[in-house]
Amino acid sequence: MPEDVFTAPLKRPAHVGEDWLEPKQTEYDSEDDAIWNDLFARQMEILPGRAASAFMEGLDRLDLGTGGVPDFGDLSEALDKLTGWSVVPVPMLIPDHIFFWHLANRRFPAGNFIRTRETFDYIQEPDVFHDVFGHVPMLTNPVFADYMQEYGRAGFRAMEHNRLKALGALYWYTVEFGLVQEEAGLRAYGAGILSGPTEAVFSVEAKSPNRIMLNVDRVMRTDYVISDLQPTYFVIESFEDLYRKTVERDFERLYKSLSPSFTYANSAVIDVDNVVNVGTQEYLLRGGRGSGARPV
Ligand SMILES: [Fe+2]
Repeated sequence: MPEDVFTAPLKRPAHVGEDWLEPKQTEYDSEDDAIWNDLFARQMEILPGRAASAFMEGLDRLDLGTGGVPDFGDLSEALDKLTGWSVVPVPMLIPDHIFFWHLANRRFPAGNFIRTRETFDYIQEPDVFHDVFGHVPMLTNPVFADYMQEYGRAGFRAMEHNRLKALGALYWYTVEFGLVQEEAGLRAYGAGILSGPTEAVFSVEAKSPNRIMLNVDRVMRTDYVISDLQPTYFVIESFEDLYRKTVERDFERLYKSLSPSFTYANSAVIDVDNVVNVGTQEYLLRGGRGSGARPV
């Protein structure tokens, strides 16, 4: 890609190369490992019956449980056998084009740092628990693994058309906050949901949020907030359905038809929507995070 398509480049720390990879994973102390184990145990109380079966199967196939922060080398070895993916350590934020390039090569860039006891319940910045526990189990699913690679490839085209925001919304409403319709009911597969206790319950059970079947054109026009529970979740029928609706979609034409800014508020229900349920938006209307509103 030519230099001029890159927007607001982050300053590369002196110790990382052009691939932005850390020379090695951070060494964690026993408190870090204890935090991991406690976060893991807390999620395991909440996720059965709420997380997608693909995610739970992924957890079973990888050894993420009680041994502290997983070693990326061991994890990559296990993942490579299943879907050819690996997990690579990066400093917290990396530029979009580097992120896309790693995904397009089936490498998942994961942050090194782990939260502290003080930020145990909520951190806005993704840490190693979010990145590894939240994202990696889904990469054991062959269809989802292919989707992630294609997403990386699609990133370059979005940059050429200056539509990164639109592609970002797709990532947000699928990879981070996606729900899937299973026989037993709605289940979460998004890492932003699965790496914390509150949204894992809220996304599948609360009355506040809208739940709408995924429509790529619509989602790419929808705003999102990164600092609170989602007012709307988008639901897929299956991972094959997700792959069909995105990868097999003509993004070139879609990018050309999108306006540079978002068209729809994140709480809106519009006439083209195939609605699962219209939420009460009670949580949002009461003021959301910071107001002390209960996530109902
Ligand atoms: Fe994430």
